Amino acid sequence: MVTESKCLNIKFENFINTEVDEDLFGKAERVNKVLTSGILTGNEGLGMQLMHKVQPESIIKEKNGKAHSVIMLGSNSYLNLSTNHKVIKAAKDALEKFGYGMGAVSNYAGITDLHRELEQRIADFYNMEDCIVFPSGYGTNVGVISALCHEEDIIINDSANHASIFDGCRLSGAEIKVFPHSNIDYLERILSKIPENKKGRLIITDGVFSMDGDIAKLDKIFDLAQKYNCKVMVDDAHGIGIVGATGRGSAEHHGLLGKIDLNVGMLSKGPGGLGGYCAASKNIVQYLRLYARTYFFSTALPAPIAGGLNEVFKLLEKDKAGRKELLRKTEYLKLQLKNNGFDIGHSESAIVPVMIYNEEILFKLYQELRELGVYVNIVTYPAVRRKECRLRLCMMKDLGFKQIDKAVQIITRKGKEYGIIK
Ligand SMILES: Cc1ncc(COP(=O)(O)O)c(C=O)c1O
Repeated sequence: MVTESKCLNIKFENFINTEVDEDLFGKAERVNKVLTSGILTGNEGLGMQLMHKVQPESIIKEKNGKAHSVIMLGSNSYLNLSTNHKVIKAAKDALEKFGYGMGAVSNYAGITDLHRELEQRIADFYNMEDCIVFPSGYGTNVGVISALCHEEDIIINDSANHASIFDGCRLSGAEIKVFPHSNIDYLERILSKIPENKKGRLIITDGVFSMDGDIAKLDKIFDLAQKYNCKVMVDDAHGIGIVGATGRGSAEHHGLLGKIDLNVGMLSKGPGGLGGYCAASKNIVQYLRLYARTYFFSTALPAPIAGGLNEVFKLLEKDKAGRKELLRKTEYLKLQLKNNGFDIGHSESAIVPVMIYNEEILFKLYQELRELGVYVNIVTYPAVRRKECRLRLCMMKDLGFKQIDKAVQIITRKGKEYGIIK
C-alpha cells in the first residue's frame, strides 16, 4: 500500500532500490501508483502519442485520448531531416532492396554497401581515416569507452556529459574523475595529479551540451590533452550539422577538425535517423569493430536508416541542410525569451534552456503549456540537478516565425503567472 506521505515523496531515486520486505518488482508497483495518482511528477508525457510525422505543428494524442495540435519545440530533429523527402525516398529504396531489418550483427551478415558508404562519408566529414557506425547512439558511447578503457586507465569527464558516457565509464572499470561543467582550471588540477606511470588517459566531453546547449571549450581541453598526454573523445550528438563554420561540429567550431582522437556523434538528432558513430584512425576503428561489445553483440542498423542517412550526409557535406536558417530562428527565439526576462543560460546551438529552478512550478508549467498548444521538453533530475530544473526548447528549421511568436507569447504569459518573470 502506498501511504499519503510516500505518494508525496516523488523523488526519482526513491524508486530505484528494493525496500526491506519488498520483492524485486515492488518498486515498479510503487512508482506506478504515484504516476496514476494525479500528483504531477514531470512524467505526464508518458503515454502521449504523435499522430503523424514530426513537423512544426504536430498533432499529439494525450493519454486520455484527446488529440490536439502543438507547436513542436521538443524534437531533436533540428533540421527536419527525419521527414526530408529525399531522405525518405532513399530509405524507401533501401527498404525495397534490403528489407526493414538486418537480422545479424555487423561483423556477420549485418552490413551492406549502404553501411560502408555511410561510414566512409562520416570519416570524410570529420577528415578522419575511418568510421564505425553503431545501431544505437547510447550504445556508441557505452561501446567505445568500455572497449578502450579498463581498470588501469583513467577517464576525466565534464560533469554535464551525457548519461551514456558515464554508463560507459562505469562499465569500463577505469578510474573516473569529474570536473565541474567547463571548468578548465579544475580539469588541469585533476590532470596535474595523475601519476606519471598512469598512461591510459582519456578526456571526454560533450561537444554541445545536451541540457544547456553551450559548446565545450575544446580548444583549451585539446591544449591540456597535449600537455598531459591524454586522448580526447568528443560526443557531438547535438553539434553535428549545426555548429562550426560548415556544420562539422564543435571541433570545427574550435579549428580542430581532424585533430580529435575519437569523434563520436549520434545519427538520431540533427541527422534525424538512428544510431551513432565514432570517426577515428583506421587502427582504432578496426579495434572497435572487435572489442566494442555494443557493436559486436548487437544487430546492425537497419539498411533503410543507413540509406536515408547517406542522403543526409550528402546534404551535410555541402552544408545544405538548412543550418543557417535554423540558427537564425534559434537566435530569434532566444532574443524574444531574453527580452521577456527569462534566464536562458548561454546556449550556442539549437537547444534553448528556459530556467525554472522550482520543480513544482516546472511540472505544472509543462503540463499547462502542452494544454495550451506548446510542446517543450521538461528537464530535471536525473538529467540535471533538481535546483537547476528547466524547460528545454529545441528549435526546428521549419518552424515559422509566427509559430515561434505564438509559442513565446504563451510561455511568457505562463511565466508571468508563475512568477518566473515579472
Ligand atoms: C549527448 C548525447 N549523447 C548520446 C545520446 C544517446 O543517443 P541516442 O538517443 O541516439 O541513443 C544522447 C541522446 O539523448 C545525447 O544527448
